[in-house]
Amino acid sequence: KIYTDYFFDEPAYNTHDGGYVPLEAPETVPQPLGIPSLLKPVKETATDTYYEVVAQAGETQILPGAKTKTWGYNASLLGQSIVFEEGKHIHIDLINHLPELTTFHWHGLNVPGPYVDGGCHAPVYPGETKHIDFTVNQPAATLWLHAHPCPSTAEQVWHGLAVPVIVKDKIEAQLPFPRNYGVDDIPLVLQDRKFHEDNQWDYDADYDPDGVQGPTPMINGTVNPYFDVTTQRLRLRILNGANRREWRLHFDNDLPFTQIASDGGILPEPIKFTHLMLTCAERAEIIVDFGQFKPGDEVALYSDDVAIVRFRVHEFEPDNTVLPDHLVDIDSPEVTADAPVHHVVMSGMDEEVMMDDKKFGMQRIDAKQELGHVEYWDVTNTNEMHGGMVHPYHMHGTQFLVVSRNGHEPYPNERGFKDTVGVNPGETVRLKVWFDYAGVFMYHCHIIEHEDGGMMAQLEVVDSKHPQTYKLMDHHTL
Ligand code: C2O
Ligand code: CU
Ligand code: CU
Repeated sequence: KIYTDYFFDEPAYNTHDGGYVPLEAPETVPQPLGIPSLLKPVKETATDTYYEVVAQAGETQILPGAKTKTWGYNASLLGQSIVFEEGKHIHIDLINHLPELTTFHWHGLNVPGPYVDGGCHAPVYPGETKHIDFTVNQPAATLWLHAHPCPSTAEQVWHGLAVPVIVKDKIEAQLPFPRNYGVDDIPLVLQDRKFHEDNQWDYDADYDPDGVQGPTPMINGTVNPYFDVTTQRLRLRILNGANRREWRLHFDNDLPFTQIASDGGILPEPIKFTHLMLTCAERAEIIVDFGQFKPGDEVALYSDDVAIVRFRVHEFEPDNTVLPDHLVDIDSPEVTADAPVHHVVMSGMDEEVMMDDKKFGMQRIDAKQELGHVEYWDVTNTNEMHGGMVHPYHMHGTQFLVVSRNGHEPYPNERGFKDTVGVNPGETVRLKVWFDYAGVFMYHCHIIEHEDGGMMAQLEVVDSKHPQTYKLMDHHTL
């Protein structure tokens, strides 16, 4: 079966926003797609890997003419991709070379909160280095690292602080997937920007409380990119790294493609699509088969009607690998007996956005869940269908399972682990949520301006046998 629709509710697409900024096809000369290099460990043993991650400012040649002032991790823009191996103990020096406070949030990583997780309560001040360490305890997946100081997460991400994080494990290594990084396995960080005078970004000028957008697609930091295809099958690790934009992806002539992984790992079975919508922060790994093309052909990937990456087909070895019908087992744990059902309400738009009728309070714990308990979280978007929007709901420190949407089956590509789920207006999405580590964790809308605007709350995962206290920042100490 090949799915041909986007599943989300069309009247709530961002195209209907008052402030919608349509993508425009860039007029600049096509550039080779930038592929973030892999961050080299500073030290490695059989069991431990050591990294230094530097948040830095720089300048990047994105458009012809003046360079753009940008931020990145170990690079001037976005950064170097970081690879973690399941089971390894990771040590990271978090180094801030920026002129302001930042935090290093490991979106999708199963680690203790709030300091390792790197949300608002884990500031690294300018010139400072902080150290974290954790054991990689989750299946292979495409995650990401991004800045998360409250309330300037959105602005720092807009400056460029976002980079793919790849988790590898032995199960993924056995599956017939392309995995030669940079050749047949590439990240695609989808973002949009507006370039002002002298090719600069101006976050304040473009500010919109419903999410900052720009007309120019920027993919892995490249405007108008092409990629040289030299293998029949290509694996794309797609990350919606935009502040607000939804990407509605499809190829020339509705070329079908196969999704093999969602946010938190490999799907139980591969799903074939011609169209795929990703809300903010969601990831999808897809495999595209160029078998029907010949050298010299070009196949474009579009969002709505604008080409965002052009794949230039070259000579390749035939590869008729067939994916198994079943990829991985996903164990869905039983809900803990007598556990409460959590209710979360995302309401409003613009400055009015709220979570459970409240704005975010950095020192307020809004919910509690016992470590190891499996509980339902019912997440409701109370926007009206017409004039409302899809709010991408994200939780830190866990990969959850989507149980249902308004009592119906989740979308076909939501049967694997996820950390972000788009909730339609008038919809309640039921999640099954559990935590492996104690701590304070945020949950919020991942339209980043909504998060900064207060559509965010936090829960404490409590280990009753080992109660802990946490030092929670407040906005004024930022
Ligand atoms: Cu990408 Cu608070 O998260
Ligand atoms: Cu996160
Ligand atoms: Cu939102």
